Parts: sequence; C-alpha cells; structure tokens
Amino acid sequence: MRELHPDLKQVIVSEEDIQKRIKEMAAQIEKDYANAERIILVGVLKGAFIFLADLARALSKEHVVDFIAVSSYGKSGSVAGAVRMVLDMREPIVNEHVIVVEDIVDSGHTLDYLIHTLKGRQPASLKTCALIEKKRDKLTVPVDYLGFDIPDVWVVGYGLDYAERYRTLPFVAELKPEAYQ
Ligand code: IMP
Ligand code: MG
Repeated sequence: MRELHPDLKQVIVSEEDIQKRIKEMAAQIEKDYANAERIILVGVLKGAFIFLADLARALSKEHVVDFIAVSSYGKSGSVAGAVRMVLDMREPIVNEHVIVVEDIVDSGHTLDYLIHTLKGRQPASLKTCALIEKKRDKLTVPVDYLGFDIPDVWVVGYGLDYAERYRTLPFVAELKPEAYQ
C-alpha cells in the first residue's frame, strides 16, 4: 500500500469502498426515478465536485449536471450557521426532479439552507444525496441517499479539503489534529 501523507492519521473510507458504494447509490437512484424523464444533479461546490463526477458517470438515467456554491459562517460554534449563496445554478428547476449532491453533512446547516432555497423554486421533487454524514448532535436534515456515516473528526480527500489542500486524494482520511491546530 502507498504510504499515507504524514498529515493524515488514518484512512476512514477507502477508494474501493467509495467506488463500490457509489455504484449502489446510482442503482438506487435509477430505481427510484424510473418514471422520471430526467434528473438534475446539483453539486455543492467545491467539495462535491469529485463525488458528483463519479456519481453522474455511474448513472445511466438521463441527467443534467449543475452546480451551486455556498459559504457558511459559525458553523461549528453555538451560533446558528448562517449560509449564503455565492454562486447559483445555471438552469431553472421548475417541474424538474432535483437531487442536491453534497460531499459531507456536518451541522446540516448547508443542506437545510439549500433544501429551503431550492424548494421555493417549485421543482417536481427535491432529494438530497451526500457521500458522508458525521455522527453528532445536530439539525435533523433528511439525507435521502447517504454513502457513509463517520465519527466526528476532520476528514480530507475525495473532494474534501483543509485550507484547499488534500482534495484530490482518492480516499477519505482523518487529518491529524496537529495538522490544523
Ligand atoms: P454543515 O453546513 O455544517 O453541514 O457543513 C457542511 C460543509 O462543511 C461541507 O459541505 C464541507 O464543505 C464542510 N465540512 C464539514 N466537515 C468537513 C470535514 O471533515 N472535512 C472537510 N470539509 C468539511
Ligand atoms: Mg461542502
């Protein structure tokens, strides 16, 4: 096995497990949307770009890929997370079947904000998909398609970063606390 970067403590989800799970998630989505004409996949930038690329290519169902970017403040403190849209989608979603594709759900504020914002645009349906959810006390946001549950540690790789680093690792790994403290 390749040696782990010295800033990383351990692999949390391996490349093989990610790829296997994505195929299962795509199969489930195809089944659930068998009667839909097409799906709009909305990736949340930047973190979801790699997950969305693999998920979209695993989907044989007709789909459109679009992106949205948000920024959040005070998301890990006691202050309620304030989320703001910094880049909107290209296409309207009226009467479309929309799936929001997130990298990781932590406090849930980002997904909660996106659900409320996109619901207001009258899509035919709106569901959520995330590769990872962290287990801890938080808002209960519904994640319709979830890849993996992980402990509450900072992870990087497969789109996820710390200060814009480590995004293109093919697996998800725990960052050593000393690498970000
Ligand atoms: P939430 O709004 O607290 O659910 O935060 C979600 C966003 O925070 C994710 O889309 C990520 O961009 C970022 N995030 C949360 N936890 C991690 C992590 O462990 N590694 C990298 N990014 C994270
Ligand atoms: Mg994100």
